[in-house]
Amino acid sequence: MTSRNDFPPGFVWGAATAAYQVEGSVTADGRGPSIWDTYAHTPGRIADGSTGDVADDHYRLFAEDIRLLAGLGLNAYRFSIAWPRIVPEGTGPTNPAGLAFYRRLAETCLEHGVTPYATLYHWDLPQPLEDAGGWMVRDTAERFRDYTAVTHDALSDVIKHWMTLNEPWCSALNGYGDGALAPGRCEGANALKAVHHLLLGHGMALEAIRSSEGSYGIALNLAPVHAASGSPADREAARRVDGLQNRLFLEPLLFGKYPADVLEDTGMAAWFAQHEDDLPLISAPLDFMGVNYYFPTTVTAPEGPFSDPSKPSTQPGSENVTAIDTGLPRTHMGWPIQATGLRDILVTINSLAPDLPLYITENGAAFPDAPTADGTVEDDGRQRYLKQHIEVVRQIVAEGLPLKGYFVWSLLDNFEWAWGFSRRFGIVYVDYATQTRTVKNSGRWLQRFLTSDAPFDSYTG
Ligand code: FCB
Repeated sequence: MTSRNDFPPGFVWGAATAAYQVEGSVTADGRGPSIWDTYAHTPGRIADGSTGDVADDHYRLFAEDIRLLAGLGLNAYRFSIAWPRIVPEGTGPTNPAGLAFYRRLAETCLEHGVTPYATLYHWDLPQPLEDAGGWMVRDTAERFRDYTAVTHDALSDVIKHWMTLNEPWCSALNGYGDGALAPGRCEGANALKAVHHLLLGHGMALEAIRSSEGSYGIALNLAPVHAASGSPADREAARRVDGLQNRLFLEPLLFGKYPADVLEDTGMAAWFAQHEDDLPLISAPLDFMGVNYYFPTTVTAPEGPFSDPSKPSTQPGSENVTAIDTGLPRTHMGWPIQATGLRDILVTINSLAPDLPLYITENGAAFPDAPTADGTVEDDGRQRYLKQHIEVVRQIVAEGLPLKGYFVWSLLDNFEWAWGFSRRFGIVYVDYATQTRTVKNSGRWLQRFLTSDAPFDSYTG
């Protein structure tokens, strides 16, 4: 019977968004183009042909949105800062209007008793940097450090919680592996170079901005990976996928080494051997780790070879490994629902880094929501999803893991990358034609959980 009282008083309850997914106003106040502008405007890339040109108009409506967030009883807002607003060319002059926008946003949070949590890179690389090689080249890591430093210098009085990167796995392996996200390149195992440059950018940025006044981390998309059976081949498949999804990020960040088996599987050992000197920077201490958790994976081995480098894939070295259907219920994304996976992944991190504070920086679900005639949005599936996951959060806290907060993805329905507006993750419904916001039943449920002492089994809707 979980209630808010089961959580320590300082526990952080937030909601998350990302700049390109919500802001719109893509040419306002000196913003430069990003890889997402280019990608979304390329025919065939986005499922419903939409772009983030307007999105939720959050650039103009942010104050209303923050008021809404605070009204739900949430006490933190995780948003991302758009690099192309701050350094429109990716390198060179800083744009004061971009910094001023995020100052207003952070100050509005503070006025409403909401703590700002800023992500410095949620996938919107300035297009000129992609034209110069993107994350496949080392120079981008240095440019990220420079952008981070000016942003932190300008805003560290109002923003104390910083995340360098959001989900470098997606930036690298979707961006440069299978092309499913911007910039849409299919470079096979070479996408691991992008992994390295992203992690290097993280390390350089941390070194540039770390101060005792702030708290600094990274948000990774981690997932428990299970073998479909105990057979050696399935276990080998799970080792390969777990290596790419989890260990390729956790081990350099926490221990300053890349997993040798992953570099072998992908044929990248020789390239990485030339970059070992970067590892001390990459593994500089973190104040916290953010985990974006959506679903676990169960994988099975192919009949033939594991690898087929001719296939564009997020799984270099294991392109032929497939995920199986384990019969779990699924969301509108097709993602299986299993709340206990959240605990599994946090236990794994905690066993590697026992004292490292953790946050769940994203968790949530898409369902095909639509308002009823009386204007309510009855998203029972999402309400159930949140309840199950928050129940697991309670267990994790009760077990004594250093979990400090939970951010629901997302505050608002928004531009869901390659899915455009065809997938809704919000606890608040957005009518894109009118920009009207309607709190869904899941949002009302969360509000009751956060603002009353009652156990959440005792109320619905
Ligand atoms: C994560 C992203 C976030 C959102 C959710 C559904 O991978 O970080 O922007 O798209 O998935």
